[in-house]
Amino acid sequence: MEKYQNPDTPMFSRIISGVWRWGKLPAASWRNLISRAIDCGITTFDHADIYGDYGCEARFGEVLREQPALRNKIQLVTKCGIKLVSPARPEHRIKHYDTSAKHIVSSVENSLRQLATDYVDLLLLHRPDPLMNPEEVAGAFAQLKRQGKVLHFGVSNFSAAQLEMLQSYLDVPLITNQIELSLFRHHALFDGSVDVLMKRRLFVMAWSPLGGGKFFTSPETVKTTADMLHGLSEKYQCTESQLLLAWLLCHPAPVYPIVGTTQPERLAEAGGALAVQLDRQDWFAMLKAVTGKDVP
Ligand SMILES: NC(=O)c1ccc[n+]([C@@H]2O[C@H](COP(=O)([O-])OP(=O)(O)OC[C@H]3O[C@@H](n4cnc5c(N)ncnc54)[C@H](OP(=O)(O)O)[C@@H]3O)[C@@H](O)[C@H]2O)c1
Repeated sequence: MEKYQNPDTPMFSRIISGVWRWGKLPAASWRNLISRAIDCGITTFDHADIYGDYGCEARFGEVLREQPALRNKIQLVTKCGIKLVSPARPEHRIKHYDTSAKHIVSSVENSLRQLATDYVDLLLLHRPDPLMNPEEVAGAFAQLKRQGKVLHFGVSNFSAAQLEMLQSYLDVPLITNQIELSLFRHHALFDGSVDVLMKRRLFVMAWSPLGGGKFFTSPETVKTTADMLHGLSEKYQCTESQLLLAWLLCHPAPVYPIVGTTQPERLAEAGGALAVQLDRQDWFAMLKAVTGKDVP
């Protein structure tokens, strides 16, 4: 499978597997999903400290403890900065953000313990924090990089201006912004969020690339889109979810979709999207099916 080629960054698989929805799965399913993903060339796994009510990293870590040789075959992404109200964190009185240096460092150190690894390939600030002190973030990132605990840094859900502001304080380069991006939620293509990444030669990580699966569970609510995708899936001899991924993959940014499936066979299906080469007019036809109108 094609990998990200920028020599300054690690190799991430072009399709990434997100574990957000894996929280309640039994251990055997985690083992199976991880191994099937790797078999399909999906070697990058997207985590956050908070996924699974602060439990997913530890579940993944159990598999790495059982099979330590897997670590060299995969890339681990994790995030910090959101604090949830949870029995796992009784000191949190309210959901809030914390991008203080102390929290970033302690969150990463905890993630490393949970994931049973010495380093993560990529750390993201999960959400823009209105109280973020960029000098503190710069200090935390420099320390984590120096200690070898984090290889690369990025952000998530940041606007173009927020990304530029943070970068101006950092000694390390941000390498990505992980944003919501799909045929159904495509505003980032038009509001400057993707443009700033392209300007800086950074890649886009697209979360909920299938719109979180709602299209499949209630297709009657988007009949025009359903009809369009059905027709195109026959034309391209692929599935509708492959079309949705191909719609992102053909963007020159480049876009790295993070699929959230809990079903191994759908990981293989996602990998197959790389072979679908969408025609430019069909790309716009898919957009029109969702917006209901031609581009201006
Ligand atoms: N940075 C952020 O703020 C942020 C926010 C949200 C998510 N994320 C990341 O993005 C990842 C992906 O998000 P997502 O899970 O919303 O992505 P997604 O791939 O758009 O949606 C996955 C959902 O779609 C369903 N689905 C997929 N194909 C289907 C089909 N053919 N028929 C019916 N249902 C289908 C899946 O069900 P099955 O499990 O049954 O296949 C699953 O419930 C997360 O795991 C997380 O790593 C990041």
